[in-house]
Formats: sequence, C-alpha cells, structure tokens
Amino acid sequence: MADIQSVTRAQNIRYDRKTEALYIIDQSLLPNEEREIRLQTAEEMYDAIRSLRVRGAPAIGICAGYCMYVLAKSIRGEDQQVFLKKLSDYGEYLNSSRPTAVNLNWAIRLMLRTALENADCTRGQMLDALYEKAAAIHQDDIAKCRAISEYGLTLVEGGDGILTHCNAGPLATSWYGTALGPILLGTERGLKFRVFSDETRPLLQGARLTSYELQRAGVDVTLICDNMASIVMKNGWVQACFVGCDRVAANGDTANKIGTSGVAILARHYGIPFYVLGPTSTVDPDCPDGEHIPIELRDPEEIKTMWYQRPMALPEVKCYNPAFDVTDHELISGIVTEKGICRPPYTKSLAALSLKKA
Ligand code: MRU
Repeated sequence: MADIQSVTRAQNIRYDRKTEALYIIDQSLLPNEEREIRLQTAEEMYDAIRSLRVRGAPAIGICAGYCMYVLAKSIRGEDQQVFLKKLSDYGEYLNSSRPTAVNLNWAIRLMLRTALENADCTRGQMLDALYEKAAAIHQDDIAKCRAISEYGLTLVEGGDGILTHCNAGPLATSWYGTALGPILLGTERGLKFRVFSDETRPLLQGARLTSYELQRAGVDVTLICDNMASIVMKNGWVQACFVGCDRVAANGDTANKIGTSGVAILARHYGIPFYVLGPTSTVDPDCPDGEHIPIELRDPEEIKTMWYQRPMALPEVKCYNPAFDVTDHELISGIVTEKGICRPPYTKSLAALSLKKA
C-alpha cells in the first residue's frame, strides 16, 4: 500500500504560523536534493516562480496566495489607499513572472479582492483576512485534488497502463495532484497501474519529479523519453493518457506543458482516451479558445546547455523554446474537475460549471 506522505518528506509549500515564514521545496533541485527555501522578498518570490522552484499551475496559485500575505505584512504605514496600491503593484509584479498558468492570476485577484473587502478594517484585521484567504486557497486545493482523484479513478481499471506528460502530482498541487491523483488514490486502495512517464524536455519534470513521486509512492513507473510515447502506445501498453493543465479555455482547448498536444495526437491515432485533469481554478471562462492563451517562451539555454556537462549545440544556433502548447478540444476525451467530468461539447459542459467571470 502506498504511503502518500512518503512522496515528499516535507510539504511543497508551507506557511509556518509560529515563525511567520513561507517555505517551499526547491523543485529545481529534485530529485537529487530535497531542500526547503524561505521566500521573504518580492524578488525572491518572482524568481522562485520564474525559475520553477515552485511550479505546476495549482502550486503556483497556492504559493502566490501566501506570497501576497507576506508582502502585505511588509507594507508599512497606515494609509489604506497607499496599502492597497502597493499590494496591487506587488500582485502585478508577481503575475508577470509566468504568463500561461491562469491560477497565478486567479490567486492574486482573490487576494486583492479580499484586501478591498477589508479596506475599512484595522491593519491587524486586514492581515488576518489575507492569511485566512491564502490558507483557504491551499485547503481548497487539497479538497479539489481529492475530488479530481475520485472522478479520475472511475476512468481506469486496475492493471491499466497510463501515460502522463510533465508533472501534475503532489509537488505541482497540494496533495494527491491532478493527473497523478487517480493513480495515487487507486494505489492506496490496492489497485496496480503501470505508468509511463514522459521525461518532458527540456526541463525534465517527468524524469525529475513524476517518476520520483510515483517511485516513492510504490507505483510501477517506467520513465521514457518524449519520443518513445508512440512505441509504448503501439505496443498496446497504454489504456489512458492523464495530463494536467495550465489553462483551459471556454471551448475546452487546453494549454499544458510543451509536448502534450503531440501526446493527444498520438493517443487519437492509437484510439486511446486522452484526459485532462485540473481544478476549476484552471478553467478560464474569459478565454474563448486556445488562440487566446498566452504561451511562455523561455531561455534557449534550457535546450542547449542546461543539464549537460558540455553544450549540446553551437552557441549561435537559433532555438525556439515554448514552455507550453495547446491541445485542441477535439482531441480531449474528458476534462476532469473537482465538480465532475466534463465531456464534449465543452462550450456547454464547462459553462455548466457556472464559473464566475473575472
Ligand atoms: O512549467 P511547469 O513545470 O510549471 O508546467 C507544469 C505543467 O504543465 C503541469 O502539467 C500543469 O501545471 C498542471 S500541474 C497540476
């Protein structure tokens, strides 16, 4: 039986009320080192998100909630208008760290709304309200991941092979994870799955994080390079694909880690169901379709030199390094949220979730 607590020794995001300190596990060091780092300044927070020390759409949102609280505490002076303006500037700054995952913007907006709603309170009351909101975002995500895991588990059977891309497990969320949630929950209940984890070039979240989490949870996991997904599907080893999401548009088009859309195209070719799993905080009702999802472009060095002892390309060679791609809604068999499984047509099933517009 898997022990979920053994997946990581510490919590990926932790606010210590006694010492009033925000800690994250630095995911950029995994799997070789599991180290907590403390985030104190806006610059440290921006850098932690930008450089994927904290990553995964829900985890970025949770972290941003606590960051806003820490930054609110650092604002000196009594004038509420000045306080609100400074907090909003901090929010804008943090929000500019990564553009694709909507959870970052979502959590920052929730925190700013809480500040506005408490504008007439004392400083102490305001800070209490902000802490409560950040903790609620965190607790809600734990409950959402659990519900997503239960719904996702209805889509597979013990013995199934499941292919996943990138990392949408406990490190990327709050607990079970989204795409890995049904696997971890099913394992707890004694089911056996055979998981194929794409290594996920260029930042290797599949190799460094997914295979680490699943191995430690006692799941049968096989690490493959991204270009091996086709052969394992052709071999008949995959009965379902489970992936996470960074932003789901109103028509069901979904942004997730670069390479996800290729997996969906392969799955369609081999007749394998392809599921997207994520909390409703990742659904963006303001975004009509994938064309409107901003795609983050990252440093070419991630392709050419990072991870290698020596550069693996000429320094002057041109590179294109988008961090995400959009999977067309037509390739998606179902979108699993904490409120249930949405099926096509997504314009209808996602609208039925009645998410509020921003
Ligand atoms: O660049 P990353 O590592 O933050 O990308 C993460 C992903 O693409 C995940 O699949 C997604 O955020 C969902 S995490 C539950």
